[in-house]
Amino acid sequence: MRSKPYLGAALSSAQLRSERSSNMSGMFCCWLLFLCQVWSLHAASLDTLAQQSSIYYQHVPSELSLERVEQLTDVHSLKLIVHGFLGSRSHISIMPLRNAYQAQGFEHVLIADWSPAANLDYPSSRRAVGRVALVLAKQLEQFLERHNVSEEAVHIVGHSLGAHIAGRIGRYFNGTVGRVTGLDPALPLFTARSDDGLRASAAMFVDVIHTDYPLFGDLMPRGTADFYVNFGRAPQPGCEEVDLLAASKLILQAYSCSHNRAVLFYAESIGLPRNFASIPCSWKAIRSSSSCLKGLAAFDLNSTAIELAIGNMDDGQVVYMGEQVTRSATSYYFLETNAAPPFGQGVHAKFD
Ligand SMILES: *[C@@H]1O[C@H](CO)[C@@H](O)[C@H](O)[C@H]1NC(C)=O
Ligand SMILES: *[C@@H]1O[C@H](CO)[C@@H](O)[C@H](O)[C@H]1NC(C)=O
Ligand SMILES: *[C@@H]1O[C@H](CO)[C@@H](O)[C@H](O)[C@H]1NC(C)=O
Repeated sequence: MRSKPYLGAALSSAQLRSERSSNMSGMFCCWLLFLCQVWSLHAASLDTLAQQSSIYYQHVPSELSLERVEQLTDVHSLKLIVHGFLGSRSHISIMPLRNAYQAQGFEHVLIADWSPAANLDYPSSRRAVGRVALVLAKQLEQFLERHNVSEEAVHIVGHSLGAHIAGRIGRYFNGTVGRVTGLDPALPLFTARSDDGLRASAAMFVDVIHTDYPLFGDLMPRGTADFYVNFGRAPQPGCEEVDLLAASKLILQAYSCSHNRAVLFYAESIGLPRNFASIPCSWKAIRSSSSCLKGLAAFDLNSTAIELAIGNMDDGQVVYMGEQVTRSATSYYFLETNAAPPFGQGVHAKFD
């Protein structure tokens, strides 16, 4: 935030002067004007950067801008992927999603690129969330109209700050979008009250995967169903050493192994939909990272029954995390993962 230093300088020198000046209110107005100018200039440049956001249709072997997509018919499912802070449409943090969708034959995959506003300092990028979402939402709206695609067919998948953008796009459509998936929604500078934060009202169904609390990720429930993988905390299994390295460079180099695990889990689930069996868990147990097995009775479940259902891949009994998430899922779920791919434990899932 370029305006911060100005703010500090303005206040301290205003205070100094006010000791000498009897006309304090006049001085105050003068500084206020100056501050407003700085802020609005800054807001204007953020606006310009947000305006440069765009959506691209993934088409083998290359991509198309939305205007160049020929008339589509009978689109029953449309994916829109939104990258996070420091990302772009070809960034390594979201490529696994595109690759997995294409490998599984999903035809209509869009990727949003908001790199001009994503590659600033974090507070500025975070402030751009609402503006970027508005720009992208309008482009998406036009595309849906042109190709006669219903909002219900749309699934927006966002990582990190992109998860909040996904949610804000969903709210532009007044919650009529079929599904929004938040992959480790960004924590810094978001609170429960943030107007532009991801919420369950963003779509008809909102699923959230938490993996990096308390670094870049959030424990706060933000979806219809929230999945707390390994209690949603860093370091995720297999990330212990990498996270430690990343933590020392936290601000400069926003890569976190645990933060990106949410993407890798999700990408894996696109090819292996029954790989991430989860169990319902109380908020209290999630908060304190204490066993979710003990509380199963509160959900009319016991470990024998759960193990049996997971062994049978019974998705009527088991809530699976990921692409083919169980749509009846609501509230909080817990699961463990392996330290290396395949991350999901499939029929061998354990929950201690
Ligand atoms: C648009 O799609 C709906 C169903 O999704 C269909 O009933 C309608 O005929 C379509 N309209 C056009 C112009 O293709
Ligand atoms: C959302 O609701 C508002 C208020 O009812 C309406 O003006 C707006 O057009 C709606 N947005 C969409 C995309 O339908
Ligand atoms: C576990 O639940 C199943 C099905 O609800 C039930 O048949 C079984 O008796 C329960 N087992 C124990 C040990 O409570």
